[in-house]
Amino acid sequence: MISVSPTSSAPPASSVPSVSSSSSASVPYPASAPASPLASAGAPAASVPHPAPGFDGLVARLRAAGCVFAEDEARLLIDTAPTVAELDLMVGRRVDGLPLEQVLGWAEFCGLRIAVDPGVFVPRRRTEFLVERAVSLARPGAVVVDLCCGSGAVAAALAAALHPAELYASDVDPAAVRCARRNLAPLGGAVFDGDLFAPLPGALRGRVEVLAANVPYVPTEDVGLLPPEAREHEPLVALDGGADGLDVLRRVTTEAPHWLAPGGRLLVETSERQAARAAGVMADGGLEPQVVHCEERNATVVVGTRP
Ligand SMILES: C[S@@+](CC[C@H](N)C(=O)[O-])C[C@H]1O[C@@H](n2cnc3c(N)ncnc32)[C@H](O)[C@@H]1O
Repeated sequence: MISVSPTSSAPPASSVPSVSSSSSASVPYPASAPASPLASAGAPAASVPHPAPGFDGLVARLRAAGCVFAEDEARLLIDTAPTVAELDLMVGRRVDGLPLEQVLGWAEFCGLRIAVDPGVFVPRRRTEFLVERAVSLARPGAVVVDLCCGSGAVAAALAAALHPAELYASDVDPAAVRCARRNLAPLGGAVFDGDLFAPLPGALRGRVEVLAANVPYVPTEDVGLLPPEAREHEPLVALDGGADGLDVLRRVTTEAPHWLAPGGRLLVETSERQAARAAGVMADGGLEPQVVHCEERNATVVVGTRP
């Protein structure tokens, strides 16, 4: 269920088409298996035995390391590893606590296989809601920017659904920029390295119709409460949103009206707890805010429209 405030006039989220990415990986994404505990809460345990020799031992290793979906993870690792030796290395990394997606080298997002490198923020399935909202509000062929792009998952999903005339992304973390370039270059996306809007071409000012910005929004004092996978294997710059979690959003909102086209929209993810304050930040910046929430995904998005 989606709830909208302050008005309930927003159209329902449209679904994002599932398309295969042009990833060089040759193994098709096993749609029935969850990519990770991040993506799979509540997934039923697999009951069909896997034919690979050593499967049970591998499951036992993963389970002993605390992997809740050990059987599903074992299947994904076996299906992704090119050799037995590589499988052993990958299982070792997973047992050491790396997020499954960084071990596999990819995550599923909006039906796409997104390359994810070690040290790069793993796209969360809840962020699919932000993409759905953007798609429901934008016209095909829109000019799209993904700020704080990480792996470029949001931009890739927007590209698949909207076929934007122009697609740009930026991130301050060079590892994220490298990863996003791999994901977005085949889609015609340009990825820039730098602080927020600073590296974007000036000619974009006043022309952006969809400005997606999944900025870091965890309050500094809560970062220590995150699961170890995030705390230890995702960069702090991807998580820490400052004292109240809204520092980066404030900076984005101050500049956004200069980049948005009239009627263009800024979309940010936030927590339910922070949503009202995030909407206030957008209003202070001159945008018309609307908070939308998806219960199923536990996802909250604030949409700010340039009048
Ligand atoms: C929560 S992650 C989101 C990544 C991606 N958009 C996604 O949804 O998977 C936040 C990203 O913002 C980037 N970031 C943080 N501060 C930034 C800044 N000042 N300028 C540009 N990127 C920034 C981080 O490097 C990280 O990749």
